[in-house]
Order: sequence, then structure tokens, then C-alpha cells
Amino acid sequence: MKIAIIGADGQLGSDLVKALKGEKVFPFYYPDFDITKPRQIREILSRLDLEVVINTAAYHRVDECEDNPQKSFEVNSIAVRDLALICREFEFTLVHFSTDYVFDGKKKTPYIEDDTPSPLSVYAASKLAGEYFVRSVLERYFLIRTCGLYGVTGCWGKGNNFVDTMLSLEKEGKPLKVINDQTVTPTSTAELAERIGELIQTRHYGLYHLTNEGQCTWFEFTKTMFSQVGKKPHLTPVDSEAYGARARRPSYSVLENKSAKEIGLTDFSPWKKALKDYLIKKGHIKGEM
Ligand SMILES: NC(=O)c1ccc[n+]([C@@H]2O[C@H](COP(=O)([O-])OP(=O)(O)OC[C@H]3O[C@@H](n4cnc5c(N)ncnc54)[C@H](OP(=O)(O)O)[C@@H]3O)[C@@H](O)[C@H]2O)c1
Repeated sequence: MKIAIIGADGQLGSDLVKALKGEKVFPFYYPDFDITKPRQIREILSRLDLEVVINTAAYHRVDECEDNPQKSFEVNSIAVRDLALICREFEFTLVHFSTDYVFDGKKKTPYIEDDTPSPLSVYAASKLAGEYFVRSVLERYFLIRTCGLYGVTGCWGKGNNFVDTMLSLEKEGKPLKVINDQTVTPTSTAELAERIGELIQTRHYGLYHLTNEGQCTWFEFTKTMFSQVGKKPHLTPVDSEAYGARARRPSYSVLENKSAKEIGLTDFSPWKKALKDYLIKKGHIKGEM
């Protein structure tokens, strides 16, 4: 299978490159390959006789997006529409990623794919618009909503991933205040990439929720992570209001992998197991995955 990966050096992109090593992969890197330049990317992609285009690119500094709605919609919505149009023209299947933040968190039980989105932030609204463009332009697409990604490459688009940020702050002896009123499912990009590899072999196109299993607050996640690496730093649980982030985030955005289970995709691990595997892979602890 010939597959283009956009954002191939991002945290999800780099794990996709690894997970798809048995395929013919064409990795693309920003800024040489910029999804906001449709003429250029059409020219490049049209020459490759691809079957699948995987787009991991996003503008996802969630708080920054509040002050930059234009850029948010350019990257997360308009560029996605342009990419979908290119995929339709050349009959490529598009894999595109969205977010748990499309929900407002009022539900308090895991969200399924049929639940109605209600975004609370500019970032979430722009990602939802991107979703609608994919769904309105294409028939052959895999649209993946996921949550709280962390991977060995780290997320430079956001400054770093959450796990590595917490570990660095602890090393520097900085006070650790962690949000305790947002319930999520942090998800390993290594596992997500493996499941994407499985999904694209099928013809079960459509919208999927794909995350690790279970749920926790960011505070609970951090506590577990430090206990797994054998450290006991002083952690202070804080609520979102006290934290003072610019963008509103859902207090509950756990996703149920309903459609994935229905088509028999391999189950994701519980989040604690995925976190341990990550810490082993990064050399923070010894053990077998
Ligand atoms: N991270 C999370 O917690 C999370 C949660 C839910 C959903 N998602 C979604 O999952 C996807 C992957 O996220 P990630 O954490 O892997 O992100 P990431 O590490 O920031 O990777 C994104 C990649 O896209 C590149 N990129 C940025 N702007 C681009 C543009 N205009 N054209 C082409 N490439 C561009 C980035 O390059 P530079 O690094 O050079 O900017 C980077 O290589 C995104 O769609 C995101 O919205 C992420």
C-alpha cells in the first residue's frame, strides 16, 4: 500500500512511520510540506499514485488558538477541506485526526461516535469544522477522534507531551499543580498508530473514537506516572478555574471506542499499561512491555 504521512515527525506521525514500515510510506514534513498551501500539496501528492493519505497536521496549542481563530480555522478546517478535495480528485482514502474536545463534557459517561458535539473552544470548533469538511467531501475516509496523546517523539507543536513535561518539572524541583477536574483517557501514539495500521486494511470507512481504555483525571494520571517511576513528588490537585487556562475544556471527555469494537479492531490496552510501556520505552523504568 502506498501511504503519505503528513506531519511525519510529530509524535503521532513518527509512530505511524514505525507502525507502517511494511508499507511504502512517503513521509512529509512541515514547513516544506504545508497543508495550508493546497496548490503545492496537490502537485506533490498527484505524482505519487497513493492509496492513503494520513494527515496528522494540526494547530493545536489550545490556549493560543483562542487568540488566533483565523490560523486555527486555516489549519484545522480550511486546509483539511482542501486536502479532502485533493483526495477526492485522485481517489485517495484520507485518514484524519480530531479530538475529544469536540464534546462539552456534560454527559459524564463515555461519548460514542453518535453523540452530538458541542465545542467549548476555538480549537475544538475548528477541529469540528475540519471533521464536517471530511465527511461532506469524501466517502472513503477514516476520521479518528482521540484524546491526550503522548509518544516518544514528544509533541513539539505543544511544547512537549504531558508526561515528559511533568518529569522535567519534577527534575527541576518545580511545584507540580495538576488539573483534577478534567476526566480523560490519555492515549499512547504507539498503540494508536498500530490500530490505524489495522484500520486502513479494512473498508470500514467512517468516524471512530480511538483511545486507550479507562479514564482518569490529569492529576490521577500524573500520580500513577510518578508511582510507576518510583518517585513521590508533592503534587497539588487544582481545578480548571484556579489553573486559569484561556480556553475552556470539557470536564469529561472520555471516548468509547464503540465503532472500533463493532468491526473487531484489536482492543486498546488500559491507560495504566500503555503508560508503563511508554515509560519503559523511554528508559525511565526497566521492564518488559
Ligand atoms: N496531542 C494531543 O493530545 C491530541 C489530542 C487529541 C487529538 N489530537 C490530534 O491528533 C493529531 C496529531 O497530534 P500530535 O500530538 O501528533 O501533533 P504534533 O506532534 O504537533 O504533530 C503534528 C505534525 O504536523 C506538523 N504540522 C504543523 N502544521 C502543519 C502544516 N500547516 N502543514 C503540514 N504539517 C504541519 C507538525 O510540524 P511542527 O512540529 O514542525 O509544527 C508536526 O510534525 C492532530 O490532528 C491533533 O489535533 C492530538
